[in-house]
Parts: sequence; C-alpha cells; structure tokens
Amino acid sequence: MFVITYFNILFVALFFVNVTSTANVKNERKITGKVVVVTGGTKGVGYAIADNFLKNGAKAGILLGTNVTEGERAERKLNSKYGKNKAEYIECDITTDLDTVSKRILKKYRYVDILVNSETIADEYKPRSIILINTVGTIEWSTRFFNSMRKDNGRGKGGAIINVASVAAHNIDPTYVTYRASKFAVLAFSQSLGHLYNYNISGVRVITLCPGPTDTPLVYKVYSLYDLDLVKKIIKYYNFAKIQSPDNVGRGAVEVFRNAESGTSWDIADDKPPVESANTINIVPFEEIDDDENTHAQKENNADNSNDECPLISTEVAL
Ligand SMILES: *[C@@H]1O[C@H](CO)[C@@H](O)[C@H](O)[C@H]1NC(C)=O
Ligand SMILES: *[C@@H]1O[C@H](CO)[C@@H](O)[C@H](O)[C@H]1NC(C)=O
Repeated sequence: MFVITYFNILFVALFFVNVTSTANVKNERKITGKVVVVTGGTKGVGYAIADNFLKNGAKAGILLGTNVTEGERAERKLNSKYGKNKAEYIECDITTDLDTVSKRILKKYRYVDILVNSETIADEYKPRSIILINTVGTIEWSTRFFNSMRKDNGRGKGGAIINVASVAAHNIDPTYVTYRASKFAVLAFSQSLGHLYNYNISGVRVITLCPGPTDTPLVYKVYSLYDLDLVKKIIKYYNFAKIQSPDNVGRGAVEVFRNAESGTSWDIADDKPPVESANTINIVPFEEIDDDENTHAQKENNADNSNDECPLISTEVAL
C-alpha cells in the first residue's frame, strides 16, 4: 500500500511539473499583452519589428532612437494603426542613455517582456561608433534587461531578447570590415547568453536574427562604399535574389519569437520566412572575386551598364 501511494504522489508531482513548464513555454511565446522595447525602432528594420509585434497584440511598443523627427513620426504612425498610447517614442542614444531610459521605461511600464536590439550603423569611416552602437550597445542593453527579466534572482518572470545581427556575421569577404566584426560579435554574444544552460536558469530566451540585404538606408550606404565591380561580384557570389522589405524582417521576428529556442539564430532574406542559421563561417574564395578578365577598361565600361545581371544594385546605389 505504502509503495503504491508513494509512486502515485511522485507521478502526480511529475505530472504537474510537466504541465507547468509546458504552460510557461506557451505563455512565454505569446505576444498578447507584452511590452516590447526596440532600439533603433523609429525606422527600417526596428520599426518593422515594432509594427509587427503591435499588429500581433503586444500591449505597448517603445521606440528608441536619436532622431526626434523620425521618432515622433513613427509613434504617430503606429498609434494611428493600433490605437492611442500603443507606441511611445523615447529620445535615446543607446551608447549613453541606458541608465536613465531603462529606469524610465521600467517605472512607467513596470515590466519589459521583450527587448529588441536593432540599432545599427554601417559607416566604415567611424569604426569606433560602429562597435559602440552595434556591439557595445547591444551587449549592454541585453545585459541590463536580461537581469531585469531573469527568474532566478527573485525579481523577474522571464522574457525574450531578440538581437539583430546580419548575414554578414556568417561570411568573410573583403567588404565592410568593421560592420562585419560588430555583427560577428553580436551573434557570438547572443548565442552564448542565450545558451540553453543560461535559459534553463534564467527563463530569458535570447534569439538572433540575421537579415540579408534589406531596403533601408543602411544597405545603400554599405554598397556605395566599395568599388562597384567588387560589390557586384560579391553579391553575385552570395546569390541573393533581391533586396527584401523591412516588413519581411518584422514578420520573421514574430515567427521566430513564437517558435525559436533560446540560443538559436535565424537568417531572413529575399522576402522569405526565417531559416535557422548554419553554424558555419563561410570564407569567400579569393578566386571568386579576383577575376583577371576584368581589366580596368572593361570595368569602366561595365560601370555604364551597372544594372546588368545584378538585381541588388539599382542606379541609385551605383556610386
Ligand atoms: C532626422 O530625420 C529626418 C527625417 O528622416 C531627416 O530629414 C533629418 O536629417 C534627420 N536628422 C538628423 C540629425 O539625422
Ligand atoms: C535545459 O532544460 C531542458 C528541459 O528541462 C533539458 O532537456 C536540457 O538538457 C537542459 N539543457 C541544459 C544545457 O541545461
């Protein structure tokens, strides 16, 4: 008798542990009622992510950025789409304002469920700023909010951090060298912080997005930095079909939020749904970009027909 009772109790206990954790996971992946903070949320990919989370029932979307004109415009647009006070713009330089802005947000909203780090620059003439904004910014904001969401310190109830890296974080080629380094670091940081070991303890999922070429001012800046011929060869090598819409990344972010395990990374390119990143680094072979037939004269000739067989380069981008 005693033995049976003992096993019954054990069974019931195990059953409840299981049910509770499944319910937690389900709740953790629900968007309804969640507060979402998006760095770089006033434009481009960040704006599209905020837009898609609000569309799917988020309680509030907080947009951070330095440009007040852009920020207020983004706030107005989202509030007219989703209702008054759904979106709030806060002027914020992520490299200096973490303390004041995170306190202000937590005071007003009490809890942040989802942090999206999407503020990015790609100005290779300012390598220090690239690392400060893309890398240090992402790391400091992730760390701060990881600590406010983590369950194991008795304060948090779990949450999610979505960090925007880039497909550049999977590849080595001769272009945008500091930007690439900044995104390699974001990917490594996010996958490490989001490691299941840490997730099991903290209840905070950390997921990385790696967008391919996306229709934002960033992509044009990047492409116009380098010799057009080199850029064309590299784009051809990667075989992207098109420059995707920011909204595709926004939709992808929602899909990944609903389905992805902590520590995973997802490529979003060509206006297609997210695909889990391969855990490899691809080094573009020298032969692929060192094309002897391209003499200087031919290069100049090619520049006049810059749209030939290169879907990603519009005349607007060409130099
Ligand atoms: C802020 O954004 C507006 C609208 O996009 C733009 O015209 C302006 O140049 C930006 N200001 C700065 C300082 O970048
Ligand atoms: C995390 O927890 C899950 C579910 O309990 C378990 O299957 C997995 O082995 C754990 N992973 C690590 C790295 O602790």
